[in-house]
Amino acid sequence: MADKLIIFDTTLRDGEQSPGASMTKDEKIRIAKQLERLRVDVIEAGFAAASPGDFESIKAIAGVIKDSTVCSLSRANDRDISRAAEALAAASRKRIHTFIATSPLHMEKKLRMSPDQVLEQAKQAVRFARQFTDDVEFSPEDGSRSEMDFLCRVIETVIAEGARTINFADTVGYGVPELYGNMIKTLRERIPNSDKAVWSVHCHNDLGMAVANSLAGVMIGGARQVECTINGLGERAGNTALEEIVMAVKTRKDYFDLELNIDTTQIVPASKLVSQITGFAVQPNKAVVGANAFAHASGIHQDGVLKARDTYEIMRAEDVGWTANKIVLGKLSGRNAFKQRLEELGLELESEAEVNAAFARFKELADRKAEIFDEDIFAVVSDEQHAQENEHFRFVSLAQHSETGERPKAKVVFSMGGQELVCEGQGNGPVDATVNAIESKAASGSELLLFSVNAITTGTQSQGEVTMRLSKAGRIVNGVGADPDIVVASAKAYLSALNKLHSKAERLNPQF
Ligand code: KIV
Ligand code: ZN
Repeated sequence: MADKLIIFDTTLRDGEQSPGASMTKDEKIRIAKQLERLRVDVIEAGFAAASPGDFESIKAIAGVIKDSTVCSLSRANDRDISRAAEALAAASRKRIHTFIATSPLHMEKKLRMSPDQVLEQAKQAVRFARQFTDDVEFSPEDGSRSEMDFLCRVIETVIAEGARTINFADTVGYGVPELYGNMIKTLRERIPNSDKAVWSVHCHNDLGMAVANSLAGVMIGGARQVECTINGLGERAGNTALEEIVMAVKTRKDYFDLELNIDTTQIVPASKLVSQITGFAVQPNKAVVGANAFAHASGIHQDGVLKARDTYEIMRAEDVGWTANKIVLGKLSGRNAFKQRLEELGLELESEAEVNAAFARFKELADRKAEIFDEDIFAVVSDEQHAQENEHFRFVSLAQHSETGERPKAKVVFSMGGQELVCEGQGNGPVDATVNAIESKAASGSELLLFSVNAITTGTQSQGEVTMRLSKAGRIVNGVGADPDIVVASAKAYLSALNKLHSKAERLNPQF
């Protein structure tokens, strides 16, 4: 029988460490539920000791997730491990993931500890974590730049203490597939008790090789767990992309010969949800989940695909959850049809009142836009979920004027703390005028780091989805807004970013 490959998703922990990707508790719960629908084996829900917000999110996720194991990261010390155990107490299945750096550089410069001290701390941490659960994972941080003899000592010790998963971390994306895979192979051969643990890969994408390194760790090294994130989200250049690992292993089963638990039809919904919540747009040519991943532009390819799909397609779009830009609803669609489509798309709203509010938004959109696609429904639901979070800033209306040879002007009405404000501004373009108008009253003093516009579907009728990334006093947040009018979408995105800056639930990204 083929071995099983465990999919460990760390979107909510390592993914969240991307600047601006930090999420609220409700957003994390929504993503965790989608990860459960995707049937990932392990959800790393956060880093409990990093902040009270992280702790509460893990606790809430541990309370609602039934099928996947819920995991918390912790440094190798009693306080972090106790916090992780406390946050995970209600989980049906829980894992504590503890780590300490093992490379000479990290031990000397960052930890200022001798190798013997690091070894002792790793040992004590795993021993302590085992008091709370049998499922303990240990990671030698910066493993790929660590010395093999030292790694052998540390890993043999932590397995003897009861670590059931050994996660070989390529923390800075320094690995090269053959070398990385061979390091794991050598460790497994040299460590006498290596067969008592599942070996895992955890790669960063600094040289664009995270997926290749992970797969080499599996095929050459014999790893049977891959740590990854939706859309490859993560610090710097990101982590291993879940969708690429899953589809590589499925599509090339002839080579990998591994079983997966994943429901691949939930991949695209997961990708869209993470992108909408974090404001990190997916590049159009991204494998599996990019808008062009299944688009054939050249005549020869189109002709081939029409004659026999597998001439140019190795996967089926519907198998990963693409719904082929179908017009799904229109302005005559009723509440039941809307609710049924939400269910088909795996979009869960908390209450009937939320369904009603989302339906009202949908009707308002359908009045302005004849054809409503699944992508529009995702945006409507995302807007409604933001509105439920007691927004401090709320968009009301906008009028703007731009004409060749004249400086664009905008008049925006929005509410701040429940009070409706009218403001006017001018700028280089209508979006600039809109942001200047809002700032004339909001006076946030934040710096705009990124402004991007994406068409949600095809054609000029499409809604525009705007992301605005703001920075203030060391905090970076992303706001997202969607509307058929991209200036309105920009105003909504800007106000959504201001809401995040204003929210006390938001925090700095957990860096260690
Ligand atoms: O990249 C890394 O080293 C990590 C560890 C905590 C596993 O994320
Ligand atoms: Zn990492």
